[in-house]
Amino acid sequence: MVNMKRILEILVDKAKEARKNAYAPYSKFKVGAAVLADNNEIYTGVNVENASYGLTICAERVAVFKAVSEGAKQIKAVAIVADTDAPVPPCGACRQVILEFATKECKIVMANLQGKKMIKTIDELLPYSFTSEVLNE
Ligand code: THU
Repeated sequence: MVNMKRILEILVDKAKEARKNAYAPYSKFKVGAAVLADNNEIYTGVNVENASYGLTICAERVAVFKAVSEGAKQIKAVAIVADTDAPVPPCGACRQVILEFATKECKIVMANLQGKKMIKTIDELLPYSFTSEVLNE
């Protein structure tokens, strides 16, 4: 089995590289993301803003939606990178979208450009969450 620590490093590198394509002319806040899916493919994403600000989509959601649209069913890890002092946390909407597809062990790696990292599970980032199980109760 390939070492998970190494895989997470690769994910952070891919997110950092992808971040260069962020389209953030309004906020100037560029974000990159990379998702490791259950098919062992990596899908990247960037934030894509719009002159109609509310149509902006975050980097994490682009990466997750790319994975799912290519046939992935679950997500094993996600990395998020921005030029922040502390590792950048995913927004609430992205946490909810990650939760929908995350495996139980899914690692969420928050990072900055200097290589500072924080790793959490989706349960830690989004406790007492709304899932399909609630709909079926
Ligand atoms: N952004 C992300 O891409 N991911 C997040 O989790 C937080 C926010 C983007 C959206 C917007 O383009 C910019 O960062 C400032 O909010």
